Amino acid sequence: MPAYAGDLLDPRQTGGDVLVELSGHRGVDVRTSTRVLIEAVPKWMLRWQLQGHRPDNRIHEGKALARNPFHFTEGFGNPSTGREITERTAVRTDQGEPTWGVGGTYQVVRIVRLATELWDKDTVEEQVQIIGRQRDGRWLDGAPADEDPNFAADPQGRLTPLDSHVRLAAPDRRNPPPLVRRSYSYDRGNGDNGLIFSCFQRDLAKGFESVQKRLEGEAMEYCG
Ligand code: HEM
Repeated sequence: MPAYAGDLLDPRQTGGDVLVELSGHRGVDVRTSTRVLIEAVPKWMLRWQLQGHRPDNRIHEGKALARNPFHFTEGFGNPSTGREITERTAVRTDQGEPTWGVGGTYQVVRIVRLATELWDKDTVEEQVQIIGRQRDGRWLDGAPADEDPNFAADPQGRLTPLDSHVRLAAPDRRNPPPLVRRSYSYDRGNGDNGLIFSCFQRDLAKGFESVQKRLEGEAMEYCG
């Protein structure tokens, strides 16, 4: 994974050979399982670990939603059926991947420290313009969270700014980016908090990479 514009990568928390994600309903169970796993593989050298959580974690119309550290609900842009999730994430036989990879997926994990103190100084109205959705997911042209906005009717970005997060991430509503996001919030104290951004896709270039490149220069980069 290359560095992208604006990245300040910490080598101690970058790379590694094996990524293990343990998740559960209770933090104590996850911590116990992590300890048991680490003890079971004494030859592995732990590079980094970080505990996350998903505030307000819930399922709504087949989509897993949670509140992120910027107080916005995340998950609406994900598909709602198992078939669509597989379609976006599972490696196919015709992709030229080794046989053992077929049916598997590529996961991208990025620890994104967020300037939450600066963000909280912005008004909700300013934050909404930066994201391009209301905190509860409703679109800025009035469309409900579960439906599509009409970006074509707003070519100048008067309702949904052209440099807002969602408008850059998924400009063509009929061809959503082929990835499924599932991120966690983290808080290490001392202002070090943010998102353990995670997404799954069957093709890294078409999935994460193309969205990340489109997000270059988005309003969220300059928040605060
Ligand atoms: C790191 C800070 C980030 C924050 C705070 C953030 C926040 C959000 C929020 C609030 C939404 C709208 C609700 C939803 O559809 O889930 C959203 C949508 C989305 N985000 Fe992010 N995001 C971040 C990073 C990223 C990154 C790194 C990517 C991919 C490279 C990404 C890709 C997307 C996509 C594809 C959507 C769905 C757009 C749609 O279908 O309308 N986000 N994000």
